[in-house]
Amino acid sequence: MERPEPAPAAPHASESFAGLAGLAGRLAANISKAVQVRPETLGHLLVALIAEGHVLLEDYPGVGKTALARALARSVDCHFARVQCTSDLLPGDVVGTNVYNQREQRFEFRPGPVFANIVLVDEINRASPKTQSGLLECMQERSVTVDVHTHELARPFLVLATQNPVEYEGTYPLPEAQVDRFMVRLSLGYPQRGAEVEMLADHEAGDKVLALGPVASAAEVLAAQDGATRVRATEPLRDYVVRLLWATREDPRVDLGASPRAGLMLLRAAKAHAMIHGRDHALPDDVQALAQAVLAHRLVIAPECPRGAGAEVIADAVSAVRAL
Ligand SMILES: Nc1ncnc2c1ncn2[C@@H]1O[C@H](COP(=O)(O)OP(=O)(O)OP(=O)(O)O)[C@@H](O)[C@H]1O
Ligand SMILES: [Mg+2]
Repeated sequence: MERPEPAPAAPHASESFAGLAGLAGRLAANISKAVQVRPETLGHLLVALIAEGHVLLEDYPGVGKTALARALARSVDCHFARVQCTSDLLPGDVVGTNVYNQREQRFEFRPGPVFANIVLVDEINRASPKTQSGLLECMQERSVTVDVHTHELARPFLVLATQNPVEYEGTYPLPEAQVDRFMVRLSLGYPQRGAEVEMLADHEAGDKVLALGPVASAAEVLAAQDGATRVRATEPLRDYVVRLLWATREDPRVDLGASPRAGLMLLRAAKAHAMIHGRDHALPDDVQALAQAVLAHRLVIAPECPRGAGAEVIADAVSAVRAL
């Protein structure tokens, strides 16, 4: 499989951040040509791409989850794969298997769809727990080990998994530990009425996603990812992140609060958000912008609390915790 070129040498100075920020703007403009999506949601998707995180798209059927993933994949000149999950999907169907080559009389590795740069895992909660854990393990490790041989995955590597929040029959809900592996959980919601009318008109002319061309290379995405790691964060900002985590842990509505991993992801996402906005340093605003998308899905809410209590817990934590 073709691997993207390694990222070019990192440039210095804040003007390079402005250049890297342009990448997100270009991707957002391109995707918006084909999919009606709130700018905030699209921004979070691009934060995950640039912060090397994975995305859980949780929403009702037919709101454009698959369309959004396809639009992102077409916007970056990279390898895209799609996995439709069913209960009989095997771990090897996702990560790859060793197959016997008769002619050469030896086993050779046939890579699975996770070796693509952008992987759409549709209806992840229909896959068996064994397949889910095989996938989530390689999301974390960024490599696949089959019969003692380890194979590195491609870079960039972004998993976009979708699930439908109202369907339970025949599904295997992701365990907490696995949900924690996703940097952000996003939902698309219904478009605004005007936008939906526009969408109907657009679709009369055919599938707009197919008309999208790439506006960024894989190497540019790698450079942006590298740029995001160079965004600075101060000690008080890190302290702010930890105080937010503690606010979730101490909330009486919460059985299990945000983990240290959640804090790492929140800070990484905040840095990518800062870079997208052309800054070389992260601010509390960046942390606040991402707090819902990064933290809400990781909380285990007490069973007596209503649906959506997680979002309230985060909103309350953000308003109660002093920024700096
Ligand atoms: N917000 C949207 N913007 C543009 N097109 C949309 C939007 N929502 C739905 N569509 C169109 O509606 C059709 C269904 O969307 P899509 O397949 O992306 O839904 P989905 O959320 O993946 O559904 P499912 O959960 O059933 O897989 C597609 O043709 C898609 O282009
Ligand atoms: Mg779909």
